[in-house]
Amino acid sequence: MTETVGELIRQSKEQLADTSETPQLDSYLLVSEVLSRSRAWLIAHADESVCSVDQTRVQALIARRHAGEPIAYIRGSQSFWQRDFYVTPDTLIPRPETELLMEITLARFDRQARKVVDLGTGTGALAVSLAAERPEWQILGTDVSADALAVAQKNAEAIPNVSFLQSSWFSDIQGQFDLIISNPPYIRNADPHLEALKFEPARALTGGDDGLDCIRQIINSCHEHLAPRGSILFEHGYDQQEAVVQLLEKSGFTKVEGFSDLQGQPRAVIARSDNLER
Ligand SMILES: C[S@@+](CC[C@H](N)C(=O)[O-])C[C@H]1O[C@@H](n2cnc3c(N)ncnc32)[C@H](O)[C@@H]1O
Repeated sequence: MTETVGELIRQSKEQLADTSETPQLDSYLLVSEVLSRSRAWLIAHADESVCSVDQTRVQALIARRHAGEPIAYIRGSQSFWQRDFYVTPDTLIPRPETELLMEITLARFDRQARKVVDLGTGTGALAVSLAAERPEWQILGTDVSADALAVAQKNAEAIPNVSFLQSSWFSDIQGQFDLIISNPPYIRNADPHLEALKFEPARALTGGDDGLDCIRQIINSCHEHLAPRGSILFEHGYDQQEAVVQLLEKSGFTKVEGFSDLQGQPRAVIARSDNLER
Protein backbone atom coordinates (compact mmCIF):
# COMPACT_ATOMS: atom_id res chain seq x y z
CA MET A 1 0.00 0.00 0.00
CA THR A 2 1.32 3.46 -0.89
CA GLU A 3 1.98 5.61 2.15
CA THR A 4 2.86 9.26 2.43
CA VAL A 5 5.79 10.72 4.37
CA GLY A 6 3.38 12.15 6.97
CA GLU A 7 1.59 8.82 7.38
CA LEU A 8 4.90 6.98 7.80
CA ILE A 9 6.04 9.41 10.50
CA ARG A 10 2.70 9.12 12.31
CA GLN A 11 2.74 5.29 12.26
CA SER A 12 6.38 5.14 13.37
CA LYS A 13 5.67 7.49 16.26
CA GLU A 14 2.75 5.31 17.38
CA GLN A 15 4.89 2.17 17.22
CA LEU A 16 7.61 3.76 19.38
CA ALA A 17 5.29 5.39 21.90
CA ASP A 18 5.66 2.67 24.53
CA THR A 19 9.43 2.11 24.22
CA SER A 20 11.04 5.45 23.42
CA GLU A 21 10.99 8.64 25.48
CA THR A 22 11.26 10.62 22.23
CA PRO A 23 9.06 8.76 19.70
CA GLN A 24 8.46 11.77 17.44
CA LEU A 25 12.12 12.77 17.25
CA ASP A 26 13.17 9.14 16.68
CA SER A 27 10.62 8.76 13.88
CA TYR A 28 11.84 11.87 12.09
CA LEU A 29 15.49 10.81 12.49
CA LEU A 30 14.90 7.30 11.14
CA VAL A 31 12.68 8.37 8.23
CA SER A 32 15.27 11.09 7.43
CA GLU A 33 17.97 8.44 7.45
CA VAL A 34 16.19 6.19 4.96
CA LEU A 35 15.01 8.95 2.63
CA SER A 36 18.26 10.98 2.97
CA ARG A 37 16.19 14.11 3.57
CA SER A 38 16.25 16.74 6.32
CA ARG A 39 13.53 17.01 8.93
CA ALA A 40 12.43 20.30 7.34
CA TRP A 41 11.98 18.50 3.99
CA LEU A 42 9.90 15.75 5.62
CA ILE A 43 7.60 18.36 7.17
CA ALA A 44 7.24 20.29 3.90
CA HIS A 45 6.59 17.09 1.88
CA ALA A 46 4.20 15.28 4.22
CA ASP A 47 1.87 14.41 1.30
CA GLU A 48 4.58 12.91 -0.89
CA SER A 49 4.34 9.15 -1.35
CA VAL A 50 7.11 6.80 -0.20
CA CYS A 51 8.02 3.76 -2.32
CA SER A 52 7.52 0.29 -0.84
CA VAL A 53 11.28 -0.40 -0.61
CA ASP A 54 11.78 2.69 1.57
CA GLN A 55 8.70 1.86 3.64
CA THR A 56 10.17 -1.58 4.37
CA ARG A 57 13.53 -0.03 5.26
CA VAL A 58 11.88 2.42 7.67
CA GLN A 59 9.91 -0.42 9.28
CA ALA A 60 13.13 -2.41 9.82
CA LEU A 61 14.77 0.55 11.58
CA ILE A 62 11.68 1.22 13.69
CA ALA A 63 11.69 -2.45 14.77
CA ARG A 64 15.32 -2.11 15.93
CA ARG A 65 14.47 1.04 17.88
CA HIS A 66 11.42 -0.69 19.34
CA ALA A 67 13.74 -3.45 20.62
CA GLY A 68 15.66 -0.77 22.55
CA GLU A 69 18.66 -0.25 20.26
CA PRO A 70 20.00 3.31 20.69
CA ILE A 71 19.27 5.65 17.80
CA ALA A 72 23.01 6.40 17.45
CA TYR A 73 23.79 2.74 16.63
CA ILE A 74 20.89 2.55 14.16
CA ARG A 75 22.01 5.72 12.36
CA GLY A 76 25.73 4.97 12.89
CA SER A 77 26.53 8.44 14.18
CA GLN A 78 26.35 10.73 17.19
CA SER A 79 27.21 14.38 17.50
CA PHE A 80 29.81 15.47 20.08
CA TRP A 81 31.23 18.96 20.53
CA GLN A 82 31.52 20.36 16.98
CA ARG A 83 31.14 17.28 14.76
CA ASP A 84 29.34 14.03 14.01
CA PHE A 85 31.20 10.87 15.03
CA TYR A 86 30.79 7.43 13.48
CA VAL A 87 29.73 4.97 16.14
CA THR A 88 29.43 1.18 16.02
CA PRO A 89 28.50 -1.39 18.69
CA ASP A 90 32.28 -1.60 19.40
CA THR A 91 32.28 1.95 20.74
CA LEU A 92 30.54 3.77 23.56
CA ILE A 93 28.11 6.40 22.26
CA PRO A 94 29.73 9.75 23.18
CA ARG A 95 27.70 11.49 25.91
CA PRO A 96 26.94 15.22 26.28
CA GLU A 97 28.33 15.20 29.84
CA THR A 98 31.77 14.26 28.48
CA GLU A 99 31.87 17.69 26.81
CA LEU A 100 32.73 18.95 30.32
CA LEU A 101 36.24 17.49 29.78
CA MET A 102 36.50 19.56 26.59
CA GLU A 103 35.41 22.72 28.40
CA ILE A 104 37.87 22.20 31.27
CA THR A 105 40.76 21.41 28.93
CA LEU A 106 40.18 24.34 26.59
CA ALA A 107 39.69 26.77 29.48
CA ARG A 108 42.85 25.62 31.30
CA PHE A 109 45.36 25.06 28.53
CA ASP A 110 46.34 27.64 25.95
CA ARG A 111 47.52 27.09 22.39
CA GLN A 112 51.14 26.40 23.30
CA ALA A 113 52.35 23.07 21.84
CA ARG A 114 51.52 20.17 24.15
CA LYS A 115 51.55 16.39 24.16
CA VAL A 116 48.23 14.93 25.24
CA VAL A 117 47.01 11.35 25.61
CA ASP A 118 43.33 10.33 25.68
CA LEU A 119 43.15 6.94 27.42
CA GLY A 120 40.19 4.78 26.33
CA THR A 121 39.40 6.92 23.32
CA GLY A 122 36.43 4.87 21.96
CA THR A 123 35.11 6.78 18.92
CA GLY A 124 37.93 9.30 19.42
CA ALA A 125 35.37 11.91 20.51
CA LEU A 126 37.74 13.67 22.92
CA ALA A 127 40.99 13.09 21.02
CA VAL A 128 39.60 14.26 17.66
CA SER A 129 37.69 17.23 19.12
CA LEU A 130 40.77 18.42 21.03
CA ALA A 131 43.00 17.95 17.99
CA ALA A 132 40.61 20.05 15.90
CA GLU A 133 40.42 22.79 18.56
CA ARG A 134 44.16 22.85 19.21
CA PRO A 135 46.10 22.23 15.96
CA GLU A 136 49.35 22.99 17.84
CA TRP A 137 48.91 19.98 20.13
CA GLN A 138 49.93 16.39 19.43
CA ILE A 139 47.19 14.06 20.62
CA LEU A 140 47.47 10.30 21.08
CA GLY A 141 44.23 8.34 21.48
CA THR A 142 44.54 4.84 22.93
CA ASP A 143 42.18 1.96 23.50
CA VAL A 144 42.40 -1.71 24.37
CA SER A 145 39.90 -2.43 21.57
CA ALA A 146 41.28 -2.61 18.01
CA ASP A 147 37.70 -2.36 16.67
CA ALA A 148 37.08 0.88 18.57
CA LEU A 149 40.40 2.27 17.29
CA ALA A 150 39.37 1.55 13.68
CA VAL A 151 36.28 3.72 14.28
CA ALA A 152 38.37 6.46 15.94
CA GLN A 153 40.78 6.42 12.98
CA LYS A 154 37.87 6.94 10.59
CA ASN A 155 36.62 9.83 12.72
CA ALA A 156 40.05 11.45 12.59
CA GLU A 157 40.33 11.53 8.79
CA ALA A 158 41.88 14.83 7.62
CA ILE A 159 42.97 15.81 11.14
CA PRO A 160 46.78 15.59 11.11
CA ASN A 161 47.66 16.08 14.80
CA VAL A 162 45.97 12.99 16.22
CA SER A 163 47.21 9.40 16.13
CA PHE A 164 46.04 6.17 17.73
CA LEU A 165 47.63 3.22 19.51
CA GLN A 166 46.27 -0.03 20.88
CA SER A 167 47.29 -0.33 24.53
CA SER A 168 45.82 -1.48 27.82
CA TRP A 169 46.13 1.80 29.71
CA PHE A 170 49.91 2.52 29.70
CA SER A 171 51.14 -0.99 28.80
CA ASP A 172 52.34 -0.02 25.28
CA ILE A 173 52.71 3.73 25.66
CA GLN A 174 56.12 5.37 25.51
CA GLY A 175 57.11 8.84 26.68
CA GLN A 176 55.65 11.64 28.75
CA PHE A 177 52.60 13.83 28.31
CA ASP A 178 51.66 17.33 29.46
CA LEU A 179 48.07 16.19 29.87
CA ILE A 180 46.50 12.79 30.42
CA ILE A 181 42.77 12.81 29.85
CA SER A 182 40.41 9.89 30.35
CA ASN A 183 36.75 8.99 30.46
CA PRO A 184 37.35 5.41 31.60
CA PRO A 185 34.74 2.73 32.39
CA TYR A 186 33.44 3.63 35.86
CA ILE A 187 30.05 1.95 36.40
CA ARG A 188 29.86 -0.58 39.25
CA ASN A 189 29.64 -4.19 37.99
CA ALA A 190 26.30 -4.70 39.80
CA ASP A 191 24.74 -1.34 38.89
CA PRO A 192 21.09 -1.89 37.82
CA HIS A 193 21.44 0.91 35.21
CA LEU A 194 23.59 -1.46 33.13
CA GLU A 195 20.43 -3.20 31.85
CA ALA A 196 19.49 0.00 30.00
CA LEU A 197 22.98 0.12 28.45
CA LYS A 198 23.00 -3.47 27.17
CA PHE A 199 23.64 -2.47 23.53
CA GLU A 200 26.94 -0.77 24.47
CA PRO A 201 30.18 -2.76 25.00
CA ALA A 202 30.57 -3.90 28.64
CA ARG A 203 34.31 -3.21 28.26
CA ALA A 204 33.49 0.50 27.88
CA LEU A 205 31.19 0.66 30.90
CA THR A 206 32.13 -1.37 33.96
CA GLY A 207 34.95 -0.64 36.37
CA GLY A 208 34.78 -3.38 39.04
CA ASP A 209 32.82 -3.66 42.30
CA ASP A 210 33.13 0.03 43.20
CA GLY A 211 33.51 1.24 39.59
CA LEU A 212 36.95 2.67 40.34
CA ASP A 213 39.23 -0.15 39.13
CA CYS A 214 40.23 1.59 35.86
CA ILE A 215 40.79 4.97 37.54
CA ARG A 216 42.96 3.24 40.17
CA GLN A 217 44.96 1.40 37.49
CA ILE A 218 45.56 4.61 35.54
CA ILE A 219 46.59 6.60 38.63
CA ASN A 220 48.94 3.81 39.77
CA SER A 221 50.69 3.57 36.41
CA CYS A 222 50.72 7.18 35.15
CA HIS A 223 53.59 8.77 37.15
CA GLU A 224 56.38 8.05 34.68
CA HIS A 225 54.19 9.24 31.80
CA LEU A 226 53.50 12.71 33.16
CA ALA A 227 55.80 15.58 32.26
CA PRO A 228 56.95 17.83 35.13
CA ARG A 229 53.96 20.06 36.04
CA GLY A 230 51.75 17.82 33.90
CA SER A 231 48.04 17.32 34.58
CA ILE A 232 45.60 14.43 34.68
CA LEU A 233 41.89 14.86 34.06
CA PHE A 234 39.21 12.20 34.64
CA GLU A 235 35.50 11.91 34.07
CA HIS A 236 33.89 9.84 36.85
CA GLY A 237 30.47 8.75 38.15
CA TYR A 238 28.22 11.29 39.93
CA ASP A 239 28.96 9.73 43.36
CA GLN A 240 32.68 9.04 42.88
CA GLN A 241 34.28 12.49 43.12
CA GLU A 242 35.40 12.24 46.73
CA ALA A 243 36.94 8.81 46.13
CA VAL A 244 38.77 9.99 42.98
CA VAL A 245 40.10 13.08 44.80
CA GLN A 246 41.39 10.82 47.59
CA LEU A 247 43.03 8.39 45.17
CA LEU A 248 44.86 11.27 43.45
CA GLU A 249 45.97 12.91 46.70
CA LYS A 250 47.15 9.58 48.12
CA SER A 251 49.18 9.06 44.95
CA GLY A 252 51.02 12.40 45.48
CA PHE A 253 49.08 14.68 43.12
CA THR A 254 48.58 18.34 44.04
CA LYS A 255 46.01 21.03 43.14
CA VAL A 256 43.29 18.41 42.98
CA GLU A 257 40.06 20.06 41.86
CA GLY A 258 36.55 18.75 41.17
CA PHE A 259 33.98 19.98 38.61
CA SER A 260 30.24 19.48 38.12
CA ASP A 261 28.32 19.15 34.86
CA LEU A 262 25.44 21.38 33.69
CA GLN A 263 22.99 19.29 35.75
CA GLY A 264 25.06 20.09 38.86
CA GLN A 265 26.38 16.49 39.14
CA PRO A 266 30.03 16.12 40.25
CA ARG A 267 31.56 14.71 37.09
CA ALA A 268 35.30 15.47 36.64
CA VAL A 269 38.54 15.88 38.57
CA ILE A 270 41.82 17.47 37.48
CA ALA A 271 45.15 17.24 39.31
CA ARG A 272 48.79 18.30 38.87
CA SER A 273 51.90 16.12 38.94
CA ASP A 274 54.22 18.69 40.66
CA ASN A 275 55.34 16.49 43.59
CA LEU A 276 55.11 13.04 42.07
CA GLU A 277 57.73 10.39 42.70
CA ARG A 278 58.76 8.90 39.37
C1 LIG B 1 33.60 5.11 28.86
S1 LIG B 1 34.35 4.65 27.34
C2 LIG B 1 34.92 6.25 26.79
C3 LIG B 1 35.00 6.39 25.32
C4 LIG B 1 35.31 7.83 24.84
N1 LIG B 1 36.53 8.33 25.42
C5 LIG B 1 34.17 8.77 25.18
O1 LIG B 1 34.33 9.57 26.10
O2 LIG B 1 33.13 8.71 24.53
C6 LIG B 1 35.82 3.86 27.91
C7 LIG B 1 36.77 3.33 26.85
O3 LIG B 1 37.87 2.70 27.53
C8 LIG B 1 38.27 1.56 26.79
N2 LIG B 1 38.99 0.64 27.70
C9 LIG B 1 38.48 -0.27 28.55
N3 LIG B 1 39.48 -0.90 29.19
C10 LIG B 1 40.63 -0.39 28.72
C11 LIG B 1 42.02 -0.64 28.99
N4 LIG B 1 42.40 -1.57 29.86
N5 LIG B 1 42.93 0.08 28.33
C12 LIG B 1 42.56 1.04 27.42
N6 LIG B 1 41.27 1.30 27.12
C13 LIG B 1 40.33 0.61 27.77
C14 LIG B 1 36.98 1.00 26.23
O4 LIG B 1 37.22 0.17 25.12
C15 LIG B 1 36.21 2.28 25.90
O5 LIG B 1 36.44 2.68 24.58
